[in-house]
Amino acid sequence: MKLAFIIDPIAKLDPGHDSSVAMMEAAQMLGYQVWITEANQLSIIGGKAWGYLQTVNLQPVELVDGHWQAEADWYQVGNKVLTCLEEMDAVFMRSDPPVTVPYLYTTYILDLIDPNQTLVVNSPQGLRTANEKVYALQFTSAIPETIVSQDKSVIAKFVEAKNSAVLKPLGGKGGEGILFLEAGDRNFNSLIEVSTQQGREPVMVQEYLPAAKEGDKRIILLDGEAIGAVNRVPSGNEFRGNMAVGGKAAKVDITDREKEICALVAPQLRADDLYFVGIDVIGGYLTEVNVTSPTGIREIDRLNNVSLGKQVMEWLKNKISK
Ligand SMILES: Nc1ncnc2c1ncn2[C@@H]1O[C@H](COP(=O)(O)OP(=O)(O)O)[C@@H](O)[C@H]1O
Ligand SMILES: [Mg+2]
Repeated sequence: MKLAFIIDPIAKLDPGHDSSVAMMEAAQMLGYQVWITEANQLSIIGGKAWGYLQTVNLQPVELVDGHWQAEADWYQVGNKVLTCLEEMDAVFMRSDPPVTVPYLYTTYILDLIDPNQTLVVNSPQGLRTANEKVYALQFTSAIPETIVSQDKSVIAKFVEAKNSAVLKPLGGKGGEGILFLEAGDRNFNSLIEVSTQQGREPVMVQEYLPAAKEGDKRIILLDGEAIGAVNRVPSGNEFRGNMAVGGKAAKVDITDREKEICALVAPQLRADDLYFVGIDVIGGYLTEVNVTSPTGIREIDRLNNVSLGKQVMEWLKNKISK
């Protein structure tokens, strides 16, 4: 098996936290060939997708006192080789959001990979279809009350009716730009103006769920099946649970209500060829469907003594051999 991972610069990845590293490590342990590249290293040549690929050799992390520990030089890379991506069995598109125009252009390059030759995870069409914030809104029975708007008066009316709400930029990640809004806040107008760039960009405004204090649950779905979950509990005065802003990972089970949400979302994920997805659930409400580079598997592995990376790689082998 030959796999290519399109990732952010490897030196910037956190081997004890990033799911991309966990998946690459699992692939390596199963004897698959692992190559890496970055979105800006891809081209279309002769109607095919090509990229400068490098082999990567990883020193696996080790669990020490309940934390993943990595060597200082945890990876070695080979020389860059211009390679047709169809020489790979699978390509993992794992660039971090925001989903910018160049990100979308990268998906058009990936469109030229023949799916009969090479599986792209997640599919480029799926990545374009699923805005991580807005995609959830089709599952009306699972979501909190939510609007998307760039209009100050529409937003103000919603927040006044709810008293408090959470504002989310549509392309953010890791808690970036997420604001707590309260009717009567002296900064209210200014917060909306800044977030919407003076009414030029729509944002999501969602009723505030007090259950967020108990955590924001990440559930990992592989081909529509829930394979693991981790809770992220905000720390200190922070209202956001994201691990990127200090949220603490905690062991959790998946409740019956969450299983229902997974069952509701799964057929659409399968229809959109979104194979590796992380949904966020707060107090039994679906708040986000992460499709670009969902995180969480290192924490789930550590807390539950499993290897989701290995599960993904075994699923992949099975999927490709069909
Ligand atoms: N409706 C909500 N009510 C309360 N807190 C929320 C709500 N939506 C999001 N949050 C908090 O904000 C954080 C980030 O929100 P999310 O929608 O997952 O965006 P992202 O993770 O992409 O930044 C969550 O981890 C959660 O703590
Ligand atoms: Mg989130």
